[in-house]
Amino acid sequence: MGWFEERSGLGEAVAVITGGAGGLGEAIVLDLAANGVRSAVVDADVEAVETLRRTLTERGHDAIVHHGDARDPDVLQELFTAADDRWGRLDILVNIVGGTFRSDFVDTTPKGWDALLRTNFSHVLQTCALAIPRMRAGDRGGSIINITTIEAHRAAPGFAVYSAAKAAVEQFSRTLAVEIAPDGIRINNVAPDFVPTPNLTKFGAGDTPAMATPAGARIAIPMGRVGHVSDVSNAVVFLASGLSTYITGTTLHPDGGTLASSGWFNWPDHGWANYAPNSALAQFDSHPD
Ligand SMILES: NC(=O)c1ccc[n+]([C@@H]2O[C@H](COP(=O)([O-])OP(=O)(O)OC[C@H]3O[C@@H](n4cnc5c(N)ncnc54)[C@H](O)[C@@H]3O)[C@@H](O)[C@H]2O)c1
Repeated sequence: MGWFEERSGLGEAVAVITGGAGGLGEAIVLDLAANGVRSAVVDADVEAVETLRRTLTERGHDAIVHHGDARDPDVLQELFTAADDRWGRLDILVNIVGGTFRSDFVDTTPKGWDALLRTNFSHVLQTCALAIPRMRAGDRGGSIINITTIEAHRAAPGFAVYSAAKAAVEQFSRTLAVEIAPDGIRINNVAPDFVPTPNLTKFGAGDTPAMATPAGARIAIPMGRVGHVSDVSNAVVFLASGLSTYITGTTLHPDGGTLASSGWFNWPDHGWANYAPNSALAQFDSHPD
């Protein structure tokens, strides 16, 4: 057994994962499976569910993959029960379900707010309520990981309710971490910035987001590149594993340094500035709105 396998303790572990068939989700499920974790996954995307199921089978992994809406408590109950029946233990919960749409807050409606809160916050309460008694019963501790976002840590114009819902997950996790720490159960968040998964392009109204271009990434992201799904799944594997057994109530930021830079950009021919330099403004002078 190698150093990582020995310390990670993932070999016998069982996970429940919501939203595990999406862009980040698939990478997380497959990376956990590669380390021996048996997962019960639910996702609302029929095609993505089929693809994930096929991939897991082809790779010989023991897994349960359900199609369903994680906002429905009955769907979650069914998923946890299926994991109980198959494996009789629970060690890891990963909440990945989330999503948003771009709109100024004043143009949104209570129906839209409700949808955003249910998609990005409420189901996390449900899954935690289902997971914690099971982890306590196992008496081996446990690890809960929520995928939040950099937008929970800064203003996000056009995404006010999404940003608030993800910030709610952050604050919920901080408090819950303290309540469940005596049981050896940990809860942490992973807050990515831009990882170009297929669904993300929708938020740019079909445009390629500027950050996805090499020049845009070089200006906006200190490390000069967009995120890869493995940047996020690596952080999840670490938090799920025995390498992080003394880490709880906090957030990892696989974002290439964007949270740290917060408004500072690496402009071509100018370098770091927290304003647009004259060289960048020149193009607007010749093309006024
Ligand atoms: N990709 C990024 O740049 C990025 C950045 C920051 C945060 N995030 C967060 O990461 C998570 C995953 O994002 P992604 O880029 O992989 O997007 P994605 O759309 O590919 O993944 C979300 C998955 O959740 C599923 N899902 C959505 N609502 C569901 C529901 N009610 N029930 C069951 N499944 C549901 C979708 O079918 C999809 O497979 C989201 O929470 C998102 O907010 C992503």
